Parts: sequence; C-alpha cells; structure tokens
Amino acid sequence: MAAVPASLPGTNFPILQDMCPGMYFSDDTIAEIRAASDIVDVVSGYVRLKKKGSNFFGLCPFHQEKTPSFSVNPELGIFKCFGCGAGGDVFRFVREVEGMSFPEAVRTLAEKEGIELPEEGATSRERADTVEAIYGALRFAARFFYARLTQADSGQKALAYMQGRGYSKAMIRDFGVGYAPDGWNRLLKEAEAKHISVETLEQAGLVIPRKSGEGYYDRYRDRIMFPIFSHMGKVLGFGGRVLDDSTGGQENTQPKYINSPETLVYDKRRVLYGLRQARQVIREQEEAVLVEGYTDVISLHQVGVRNTVASCGTSLTREQIQLLHRYAQRIVLVFDADGAGEKAARRGIDIVLAEGMSVYVVELPAGEDPDSIAQREGASLNDYLAKRRVDFVRWLHDVDHRAGRLDTPEGRAAGMRAVLQAIACIPDVLRREAWLPRASEIFSVPEGRLYDVLESMATSREREEFRRSVRTGRPASGGGRQPTGRSVSRSDDPSVKKSRGPTFGTRPSDSSALATEKILIRLMFEQGLPMVSYILGNTSLNEFSPGAPRRTVKGFAEQHRAGSMNRQAFLDGAYGAEVQRLVAEVAVRKEEPSQNWEQKKGVVVPRLDENPEGTALQAMKRLKIVRVDEAIARRAEEQSRAEASGDDIRTYQQDIIQLQALRGRLEKGEIIR
Ligand code: CTP
Ligand code: MN
Repeated sequence: MAAVPASLPGTNFPILQDMCPGMYFSDDTIAEIRAASDIVDVVSGYVRLKKKGSNFFGLCPFHQEKTPSFSVNPELGIFKCFGCGAGGDVFRFVREVEGMSFPEAVRTLAEKEGIELPEEGATSRERADTVEAIYGALRFAARFFYARLTQADSGQKALAYMQGRGYSKAMIRDFGVGYAPDGWNRLLKEAEAKHISVETLEQAGLVIPRKSGEGYYDRYRDRIMFPIFSHMGKVLGFGGRVLDDSTGGQENTQPKYINSPETLVYDKRRVLYGLRQARQVIREQEEAVLVEGYTDVISLHQVGVRNTVASCGTSLTREQIQLLHRYAQRIVLVFDADGAGEKAARRGIDIVLAEGMSVYVVELPAGEDPDSIAQREGASLNDYLAKRRVDFVRWLHDVDHRAGRLDTPEGRAAGMRAVLQAIACIPDVLRREAWLPRASEIFSVPEGRLYDVLESMATSREREEFRRSVRTGRPASGGGRQPTGRSVSRSDDPSVKKSRGPTFGTRPSDSSALATEKILIRLMFEQGLPMVSYILGNTSLNEFSPGAPRRTVKGFAEQHRAGSMNRQAFLDGAYGAEVQRLVAEVAVRKEEPSQNWEQKKGVVVPRLDENPEGTALQAMKRLKIVRVDEAIARRAEEQSRAEASGDDIRTYQQDIIQLQALRGRLEKGEIIR
C-alpha cells in the first residue's frame, strides 16, 4: 500500500480525494466496487450503446455530437470519447456525468451493487493519525538523544568518544547525532511526561515490551545515536552504536549496532543514510558517493565529500538506487577493503547498471575504510577519490587479476563472464554495447567474441525477467493479458514483417513518431509489466516524444520499478490530463483488423496481439529509425549552415555516415531482435 503522505491531515480535502482515492476508502474496497460494476450497464443508464467488435459505441454525453465517437471497452472497464477526449473508468464516468465527487461516486456505485462500505474513511484517517503520532515520537526521541549528547553531563563520555574520533561539533549538529543514556526507561519516562503514549513509542520502535510481566523498556541504552532521516528530513529511525568496541563476538557482548526495526514509517529498502544532508550536492554534481557505514558518511561529509550516503545496516537495494537516480546519474562505490566490501561492490555495480546509471569503484588500500581514509586525507579526499576511481570493467578485472584468478584459462573465462554479466545488466542496448570495446581492450579479446556472449546474456536476462514477472504478475485485472513468452525469432525475414498491415502502416519516411509510440504504449498498457520490461529494455525514455508520450512511458517505468502495474492510475489522471487522454485513446481500440485479409489478398495480417512481442519489436525498430532519420536531418541542416558560413563540415559528414550505418543496422534487425 502506498505510504500515507505525512503532511496530509488537516489540509483541504476535495483535491486530495481526487489524487489519492485510496485515502478514504481502502484500495480493496475500490477494486471490489470497480470489479462489481459493469461499465456497459452503468453507461447504458445515460447513453444508448451499440456493440461493434468487442467495444460499444454511442453518442457522447459530454459533448454535442451527431455521429457516435464515444466508446466503452467492457474488457478494460473504461470509456473514451474520440471527439472530446473524455475518458476513464466507471468512477470517472459517474463523476463526470453526475457532477459528483469521488467519494460520492464510490458510494453511488457501491449502493447500486449492494456492496457495504466500511464506515467512511475511519480506518485510513486513523492510520494517518497513527503515522503522524509515530513521526512525532521519533522527532521527540531525536531531540532527546541530541540534548543528552550535547547538553547533559551524562553525555560527557559519549561526546568525548565522538570528539576522540575526530567528529566536529558542526557534523554532530548537521547529522543530529545523539546519545541514549544508560538505564532502562529514561526515554520512556520523558515521553510519558510529554504525553506520548507507550503504544506510539512501541510503534516507533523506541521501546520494547518486557518479556516477563507488564511494561516496556528503552530499546537504546548507552549508545551513540545516529538518527536516520527521510530525504525530506523526517526522522524515520535510528542506528545506535556501542561506545566501546569490546564486541569480541563473545556470548554476552552487545552488538555493535542496534538499528530501528521497520515500522509504519520506516522501510529500510527505501532509505539512504545521509541523503537528507547530501541531496543538494548530489543534485549539483549529478553524482553520489556510496559507502557502507554511518560513521563513513559523517567523516566524508566532514572533509568536504558532501555527496556521500550509505544504506542503513542492509545490503544495497534497487529502491535505494532508484531514489538516488532522482538526483544522480553516476554512483561512486567506496566500500571497505575486505571480502564483504568486495561482495557489496559487485552487487552494487549490477544494481546501479541495471538502473541505467553509471558506476565507478574506488579501491581502498587493505585494512582501510572510508572513515580512516577521510581522517588521513582530510581536505584532499575529493582529489584522492577522483584519482583512484576506475570504471567497473577495470575494477572487476583488477580484483580478479590481483587475486591471481585470471592466471588459468578457466579463471579468465569466469572473469570475462563476470564482466559481461555486469554489462548485460545495462538496460539500454546502445549503452550496453558501448562497453564492449572497453572489455575487449582490458581482456585483450576480440570484440566480436564478446558481442555474441553478451547478446545471449542480455537476451536471457530479458527472458528471465520476463518469466519472473509473468510468474509473479497478478492475475490480469481489467483484461490485460500477459505476453505468451514466445520469443521473437531472429531469422524472421524483415521484409515479411514490413508487409504486416494494420499495426504497421507507417512508412519509414513518416516523420511523426506518434503512431508508433501509441502502439508501444498500448502494448505496455494491455500486456502489463513483462511487456514494459521488454520495451524499456530496448528503448530509452528519450526516444519517446517529449510531452504526453514520454510522460506515459515514464509512468510505466515507475510502475515497473515499483513492481506492480496500476492501469487505473493512468486513467484516473494520476499522470496528468494529457497522459490520461492518450492512454484512454490507445486503450480503446477503434476497430479490430479485418480477419479475412489473408484469404483476400494473400497478405499475412496477424490479429492484434497475436504476437505482441513481434509487434513491439517492429514498433521499437520503427521508432529508432524515425529518431535516427531526425538526427540525420538535423546534421544535414547543420552541415549546410556550416558550409554556407565556410566552416569545416567534416564532423557533420562523419556523423551522418555513422548515423546512416546505424540506420542500416536497424533496418537489418541487428540492433534489437
Ligand atoms: N551494521 C549494523 N549492525 C552491525 C554492524 C554494522 O547494522 N552489528 C551496519 C551499520 O549501518 C554500519 C555499517 O553496517 O554503519 C558498517 O559497519 P561497520 O563498518 O562495522 O561500522 P561503522 O559504522 O563503519 O562504524 P565504525 O567506523 O565505528 O567501525
Ligand atoms: Mn566501517
């Protein structure tokens, strides 16, 4: 379930109801009502509908018209007017036609279908209150710990420890570092005095119920407290470090860190330590430094590497990298120089590459960690990191080389495979292949060899991903079908494909990409996540036209990352009115292609979606060709302008030759297949 935005309660309601319907009725309730409501039946109360193919058509109730351009698709549960652009689901229809608010429409339809609604909004409002209370308790605790470290006598020892490690007052303040005093209920007592309930403290992960008898005790005792902030600056939890390092692994010793449990507000997979403090600099530099420990983050910030973040006591997740991707294009991994650090870096490389970002690694001398290097290098740490960072191919090679693992043929093969596997993570095919010369240079192997292996890996990775999403894919609601898993045959003669009519009417010279984009958007919408991963694995966002098409595809990409498809969000206007219109338009098919073509003309005309992957492949190819043609046209224009003003035109000519070569390869189906 989507996290409840914490700042909502108390603000105005109507617009919020529009944006997050789930806040007042549970998602389940909404889904149940939607499933129970027959949109054809509902619409028929207002419009006379006639069936045509799998859709229904009638005169649009939202604008004046004489010929029907209003259609309903019962399979998808949506309506769409090609005349005025109105479109959406059954709730949207009732709202528009009756002028109702969203909750009113929900209630109306629930009543019609005899579905009992839970008492209005009670649960979600309670939930929002709970979340607010938890944030309040965490904020209170952070203040309490901070005051104990900086103001109280009891914090002397802790402050001395921090200063002994070289942490400045400024850093202690910026990171809100605190101290949890010794004793079983110091925080608890202070919270009670402030009328914060123990239930809230427990939900915030600050206290633990006693195993025997009643009551609670403080989770953190006699520890340095590192508050973990959301990137927006809300306290989400804590990492608490012991003061002395006598954690020899004996039975009764304390763990080095005690971390907050996950709570209603704290999802560790989606949080990065230090992002709050680092995000401005990360945005400016488009680059983030990733380390492993809380103390590393603070040390690096202190010496001026202010774009440093860490995961909080978990291994790196995709979600964390996605979060960074909002600010950064490049990630520099600076992990401890030990086996665990190496493993973490290998994992980090794959995740960062799979997210479509660039990745570098800084190898530290044995026995060092980012904290110790920061202490040693001081203000020159930025330079140190800049000089020592290497690209991932170099790093993967060097690690194996140093360990002597490349000395045998088997070891070399394994090393190359590891590099190619990393490269295969890169979703964009052109960027993926751009790494081959580098790998070929570093391993002194002909590029062509690597190309074939990479290609089979990338394809099997796509297939794997595809299979996984088919397996985990929800039973397609609203009629969306999953692709069949049929892989696209490489030996398909492209000339045959070109003749495949209705979905592919666009001529190569058709400069408008929109028709092609619509096909891809429709496929993603109908086929769901596996199709999204197939298409996004082979195209990049900026191949889609700016405006509604790109925003729509971005929406699919976000849903793909989130791991579940929400078709309704597009139709509800969650991505804006233009996207809503576009998706509704492609989702409702005006007509099915004639099924007699084959007999009549001897032309192979697959029914729509008979081979969705094949259709997608052709559309992607077409889109790329259109884009290359555009680039050629731009270069040609630049060239003639340069020529007119007597400038050197060679670079333009070279560009054009390369682009034409690329176009040729696209036509032959060499780039995507
Ligand atoms: N960690 C943890 N629990 C532990 C040990 C480590 O959650 N028992 C997590 C913490 O997020 C920690 C990170 O792993 O910050 C790195 O661990 P480590 O290098 O041991 O700790 P540092 O934070 O670097 O602390 P120090 O510099 O004091 O050794
Ligand atoms: Mn460390």
